[in-house]
Amino acid sequence: MSELAIVRDGGMLIRDGKIEKVGPSDEIEKQAGDAQVVDAKGRVVLPGFVDAHTHLVFAGNRLDDFERRARGETYERIAAAGGGIWSTVEKTRAASDVDLFEQAKKHAQWFLKCGTTTVEAKSGYGLTVNDELEILRTIQRVTQETPLECVPTFLGAHAIPREHQTPEYVDLIVNEMLPRVAEDKLAEFCDVFCERGYFDLEQSRKVLTAAKKLGLKLRMHADQLTNSGAAKLAAELGATTADHLEKTGERGIAAMKSANVQPVLLPGSVYALGSTFYPRAREMMEAGLAVVLATDFNPGSAPTPSMPMVLSLACTQMKMSSGETITASTINAAHSLGRGDKIGSLEAGKLANFAIFDCEDYRELAYWFGFSQTHSVYVRGERV
Ligand code: NIG
Ligand code: FE
Repeated sequence: MSELAIVRDGGMLIRDGKIEKVGPSDEIEKQAGDAQVVDAKGRVVLPGFVDAHTHLVFAGNRLDDFERRARGETYERIAAAGGGIWSTVEKTRAASDVDLFEQAKKHAQWFLKCGTTTVEAKSGYGLTVNDELEILRTIQRVTQETPLECVPTFLGAHAIPREHQTPEYVDLIVNEMLPRVAEDKLAEFCDVFCERGYFDLEQSRKVLTAAKKLGLKLRMHADQLTNSGAAKLAAELGATTADHLEKTGERGIAAMKSANVQPVLLPGSVYALGSTFYPRAREMMEAGLAVVLATDFNPGSAPTPSMPMVLSLACTQMKMSSGETITASTINAAHSLGRGDKIGSLEAGKLANFAIFDCEDYRELAYWFGFSQTHSVYVRGERV
């Protein structure tokens, strides 16, 4: 993961939104004919970041939670006291389609500004059939009406809505939500928040098994706050990814390896929750797992769209090398979304999705932190 195929003084020939050729600039130039030339002037050119875990669509913010955490309260306590996911569900349900889309569009701009050109985007702040479908349609509109491509994930099992007991709500997901989501082709993946106080192992298994039968691929919020054996369940069910994994130990790592589950690590949420308990990235990489880094963008535990910030945290807190963080946030992430053949690297045949950063060495991306080094961003060959 630390070996990047860097082309010094490199160039790309782009046609019809795709990369036709990559190589030394002077060679590319000879074949360019009367093509429009973009001179990156020695800056770093990278594939657009692929952010494989976001909660893109929600209304409002969670400033109250933020202040309470600053006073020392925990994520779980704040949720029990009426903050947490539920408070965002109330605001999201109350928002109109138009407002929800306007907010999502604003968030999409933030991602692009940070050099991200593809995001996985989860539902999960509706928790009724109609509200979940509305969020998934909003995600679809972001792909259609902005340059940011979204890969949609159904996360009806994000929290238990106040109007239901858990078993009854699991039945609603399995019998009503999932069939509608599959029928309307509104999601490629299904995810579950498997955690104490949310969905336990059996309830998670039930939702994910039903989703798999309907042809959805699986992702999972696993072992974030407690080690419940969720990473093992992800392996057992053949999930594509297990995400978070702050509390996953050796056995969970071995299980993921045996089933080729990709770990998606979210250091931004560890940081924003004020915790110091980061996932064991080095052990996962040493086990041979294709680690992915993502933001977890959401109003509660990770209010950041910035992949460079995540790279910085991965280097300083999880001891990943700069090269490893680039691989984890581009090509590995693209594979985790089933798009390894289309995005995630700058190779002939792939989409011309790339970002130019105002630095001379890719390692500067994680090194300077707290401000944007983005110079310009291109999606399908067009500057956005
Ligand atoms: O990934 N853990 C569950 N979901 C989010 C938090 C969502 C929220 O707090 O609104 C996460 O951290
Ligand atoms: Fe999440």
